Amino acid sequence: ALIFLPKLIFTGKELIGENVERITRRMGDLRDVFEDKAAFEVMDPNLIAYHVSSIFPVKEGTPGGLFMGITYLMPGKVGDEYFMTKGHFHSNIDRAEFYWGVEGEGMLILMNEARDVWAERMYPGSLHYIPGGIAHRVANVGNSILTFAASWPSDAGHNYGIIAREGFARRLKEVNGKPELI
Ligand code: 6PG
Ligand code: NI
Repeated sequence: ALIFLPKLIFTGKELIGENVERITRRMGDLRDVFEDKAAFEVMDPNLIAYHVSSIFPVKEGTPGGLFMGITYLMPGKVGDEYFMTKGHFHSNIDRAEFYWGVEGEGMLILMNEARDVWAERMYPGSLHYIPGGIAHRVANVGNSILTFAASWPSDAGHNYGIIAREGFARRLKEVNGKPELI
């Protein structure tokens, strides 16, 4: 199928059409994510944190297919934590994923099932292979929109529950103007 990918990337405006979907997550959807509850409470719950425009060429759950999505993550902080995605394991936990940086500066935060956490710097052109069994979340550490793309198997699914309950074992914070895993 022909998909107008350059348009999707360069304008940030999704094609509304068959198999294309955009989700928007606002601060109010990210209650579990940030540590500093006092800083969180004074923020506008309607403030947009990120959009994800995704292409679903096959039905969700189909074995053997691929999905692709572009995330636009706004710059900002809650206390000393950068705006970030909710983060998840895949429901079929062994399913892998590619991420690649398009615009802006980010950190891809990764955690295995033993709860070891590490991070990779994201920048335009960076490519990240996320093996199965690894939870993934992205923080925007710059002061412009962070745009990154992802491709994952159509039978991966999303398991948000574990991260919502237990979080990541380390948090990415700004310390002396620089991102640091704590
Ligand atoms: C996926 C990808 C990616 C991710 C978004 C938003 O499996 O679909 O990892 O598209 O969903 O970057 O992050 P959250 O899904 O964690 O909110
Ligand atoms: Ni994923």
